[in-house]
Amino acid sequence: MEKTSSAAQAASRSSLSSPLPLTGAAAQLESKIRAKTAKIGVVGLGYVGLPLAIEFARKGFETVGIDLDPNKIDALQRGDNYIQDIRDEHVRECVTNGTFRAQRHYENASELDVIYICVPTPFTTNKDPDITYITGSADSLVKGLRAGQLIILKSTTFPNTTEGVVMPILEGTGKKVGVDFFLAFSPERIDPGNQKFNTANTPIVVGGVTDACTRLAVLANEQIISQVIAVRSPKVAEMEKLLENIFRSVNIALVNELARFCDRMGGINMWEVVDAAATKPFGYMPFYPGPGIGGHCILIDPFYLSWQARAYDFETNFITLAAETNESMPFYVKDLVFKAVADLPIRLRDAKILMLGVAFKRDVDDTRHSPAVRVMELLMEDGAPHLSYCDPFVPQLQVKDRNFTARPLSEKTLQESDIVIITTDHTQYDYEFIVRNANVVIDTRNATKHLTDPSLLEKIVLLGSGKMHGNRA
Ligand SMILES: NC(=O)c1ccc[n+]([C@@H]2O[C@H](COP(=O)([O-])OP(=O)(O)OC[C@H]3O[C@@H](n4cnc5c(N)ncnc54)[C@H](O)[C@@H]3O)[C@@H](O)[C@H]2O)c1
Repeated sequence: MEKTSSAAQAASRSSLSSPLPLTGAAAQLESKIRAKTAKIGVVGLGYVGLPLAIEFARKGFETVGIDLDPNKIDALQRGDNYIQDIRDEHVRECVTNGTFRAQRHYENASELDVIYICVPTPFTTNKDPDITYITGSADSLVKGLRAGQLIILKSTTFPNTTEGVVMPILEGTGKKVGVDFFLAFSPERIDPGNQKFNTANTPIVVGGVTDACTRLAVLANEQIISQVIAVRSPKVAEMEKLLENIFRSVNIALVNELARFCDRMGGINMWEVVDAAATKPFGYMPFYPGPGIGGHCILIDPFYLSWQARAYDFETNFITLAAETNESMPFYVKDLVFKAVADLPIRLRDAKILMLGVAFKRDVDDTRHSPAVRVMELLMEDGAPHLSYCDPFVPQLQVKDRNFTARPLSEKTLQESDIVIITTDHTQYDYEFIVRNANVVIDTRNATKHLTDPSLLEKIVLLGSGKMHGNRA
């Protein structure tokens, strides 16, 4: 693999002026990683952990996955895959040839040499960080902590979690970081549904607690990732990940605000504006409006930093403003629905509303914090009970206490609905078919942009189009 950054470069950026050879437990682990005899452990086999584990197993490393979810372990023990971005045959091959095995316990964790922690980092109902999954896995690992182990935290979290939370748990054993065991933070960048970038070809950042920690973590990552960038400390790596997500959140909020302004002012289509701006070859990156943000990253992670900032009498105003704008978008979509229903000869409580796409983004099956689900909640709360949905990736869905089953995307389904809302722009949808058979379409993603037939356009309410109803501005 091409190596644009190496353990040696990592060392040169640290306090050492030249990369001295590693010694003791570090040198032994370095040899094992280079010889591919190091045993890899991955704690948390979800969207992040399973692709990582399978990547190591496919490179010939003996890899053990640990997860507390019995359904995931049962599936993996049968050789069944449940993550869309991994190929089924890769999971089956690794399970069959024994390079990968999954287990529900930590009993033999002391046999593992390099352990990645990929557990959830949600927030509480008050939007404070919930790092109990991280502390829970560290508490489990510490029981088997042995000299020579390298622990790499990958879960997104606030700066100083690695050194301020995980390290004290591990050092509680009397073992010393950087001497007996090694600890680093290396944030995940996987983008589910992305056809171009995957675990192996997405550059990754690493910051270790000590120089040896960084060098070993760089080396471990380089076994499966083409470009590894070392930074000075875990805190830099933790903050870097939050910057990536805050950057997205703020920029999406900006275009969401401008889209709403276009709707109010009329005459300007915000989608056209963004595409026009994107022709500038430098200094601009396009972000698009939508029904709100979702998933397990950009919606949650910025709050980790604003929570931490409060302890320093510091307000992260950009984060708050972006959250306020993005969180208001599902309410805005609900209002678009109410306005559309007001134009029809039906009452809100009788209106049949069909959601097209409930995953949080295009071509994925993940509904965590999906704006589509939020719109459904708001509609249910505000007196529009006749909801249904189509989504080829999501067969079942629970919203509040109601269980929904995906409907087939048929002429009948569309024609029976008073309002169709395009909440997720899956690429496999035929948008001409959808609009032709629907009565009114609220398009929150500009999915109908290629349609030109005026008889179809007049059925579409396009968020940010500069006109609340009818044809495009
Ligand atoms: N999903 C993404 O696209 C993405 C991208 C970048 C970063 N991240 C970050 O990566 C982390 C993991 O996210 P994810 O999407 O893979 O989550 P996930 O919910 O898909 O997977 C996490 C897994 O950890 C397991 N788990 C929880 N506690 C455990 C414990 N104590 N021991 C063992 N297993 C345990 C859960 O059962 C679950 O299977 C989060 O911090 C997230 O913010 C996610």
